[in-house]
Amino acid sequence: MSSIPAPANDAMPAGDRPVGIFDSGVGGLSVWREIVRALPMEATCYLADQAHVPYGPRDERELRRFCEAIGHFLIDAGCKAIVVACNTASAAALRHLRDTFPHLPILGMEPAVKPAALLSKSGVVGIMATPATFAGRLFRATAGRHAAHVTLVNQVCDGLAESVERGETDGPAAEALLRRFIAPMLAAGADTIVLACTHYPFAMEAIRRIAGPGVSVIDPAPAVARHLGSVLGAAGLLRAAGEPPQHRFFTTGRPADLADAIDRWCGSRPAVNTLEWQGERLVSSVAVEARRPSKSP
Ligand code: DGL
Repeated sequence: MSSIPAPANDAMPAGDRPVGIFDSGVGGLSVWREIVRALPMEATCYLADQAHVPYGPRDERELRRFCEAIGHFLIDAGCKAIVVACNTASAAALRHLRDTFPHLPILGMEPAVKPAALLSKSGVVGIMATPATFAGRLFRATAGRHAAHVTLVNQVCDGLAESVERGETDGPAAEALLRRFIAPMLAAGADTIVLACTHYPFAMEAIRRIAGPGVSVIDPAPAVARHLGSVLGAAGLLRAAGEPPQHRFFTTGRPADLADAIDRWCGSRPAVNTLEWQGERLVSSVAVEARRPSKSP
């Protein structure tokens, strides 16, 4: 076991430090890939807490503990900003993280109720999320602010994040699961569906097919990536053009699982480092999933 690797050093300009991005598992890669697309000069440090996936059924106190430890890890690794690329973790811990680490920008996922309410013609919007996201104050506040003139159909999608985590986003089992979740929203008249869990965009193709051409499906990840660009710009933290940025990946689970997901959905197979939970702390160990030649993201 070594201590936390710090790619950034004190002499490094603040903008050159990586953006930390985390999720319970592979879902946050749907945000990571938009960040890399929108801000191609930014270095990143992605952490998947796969030892604890799924986050959805867990309670707020436990999620806060995980998120705080992850925040410490990412800050120790030199991150200049953190993106909580998980609706569930944002619901449980975004405010707590901002209070605990007030010296750096921390962005979270907010269910895209506002754009959905503006887009919907039927006045019925379906929201797909985990139980913890619906239970959180963030969702209630967002819905209260933006959904006064629409009806929300809150669809808890038990088991969907786990299915995506296994790489199953199509095929008979995934299709049956999706049909079960999408049918009640359609029956209620929804013409707009919000993906309020970062795992779900990887099932976008099947969701669109099942929902049909008359239904808009909203993935908030591109908006979050654009917002990150504005926040970094306003704070003078954008990385200047130069050497291509480094992207580092960490998991508390099996490195091959994260490497497979990056390969499948982001088109590269980088080295993945393993982390271990030791009580309330995350401790890094050596990289065990070696990089294989592949096209870059
Ligand atoms: N990707 C996560 C989210 O956005 C959570 C999935 C889970 O771990 O339950 O809510």
